[in-house]
Amino acid sequence: MIDTHCHILPGIDDGARDMSESLAMVKTCVATGVSHAVCTPHLTDDPSAFIPQAKRAFSEVRLAASLRGIRLDLGLGYEVDLNLLAEFDPASILSCTFGFGRPILLLETPYAGWPRWADRALFDLRLREITPILAHPERNEGFQRQPERLSELARQGVVLQITVPSLLGQFGRKARDAALRHLSRGEAALLASDVHYGRLETATLQNGAAEVRRLFPHYPVERLVEENPRRLLAGHPLLPPALAGRGDRWTACLRKRMR
Ligand SMILES: [Fe+2]
Repeated sequence: MIDTHCHILPGIDDGARDMSESLAMVKTCVATGVSHAVCTPHLTDDPSAFIPQAKRAFSEVRLAASLRGIRLDLGLGYEVDLNLLAEFDPASILSCTFGFGRPILLLETPYAGWPRWADRALFDLRLREITPILAHPERNEGFQRQPERLSELARQGVVLQITVPSLLGQFGRKARDAALRHLSRGEAALLASDVHYGRLETATLQNGAAEVRRLFPHYPVERLVEENPRRLLAGHPLLPPALAGRGDRWTACLRKRMR
């Protein structure tokens, strides 16, 4: 599996605090079936200052893991605060992208509110052939109340990255329902761990994939955790969205709850 969102780098954000925590996370990735992980530290300020720090931390983790014989492909990306889109010039935005083909920009979805300029900014990114990914959009209370707004962004080509803690209910029922809703509608293209050391540790990609399989037995989970991540990183078009089959457990559970 390929994890496209995790906080493994030491001492750089609210993820691993030091190298021993980073290495513990790297080992957990390997033990739970992850072959490639993109480290995506929070980028909340001037990228020209932050990116060199992140690159240094990334090289150190990669070296420490390889010296210990830990076989995990690591990549470097960023989880960029959405508000920075309004502040940065195009060259700065491009410097925060990653991927081996078409540049990818992973954006942290705010937990409340959605700026009025944001739809246009996402459209402009696509015009410049940058693929925008929204990290954990299921946690935004506006999208929870009005899921059609998020569905519309997905239709326009914004990639929705659902995260495992939401799927497992670690952020409450509303986030879990929103994650399942957009999965069942075939609008979520990626599942990622967003794992942090010391919290959300059960949010492994393996546990997330197992939950999707449990609730949607016919859903092609590999598309979320393997095929689409691979395509995304290579700059290839993503596979068409999958729809949950009729009679899946989540729909049945929702019906019961609404009775
Ligand atoms: Fe994150």
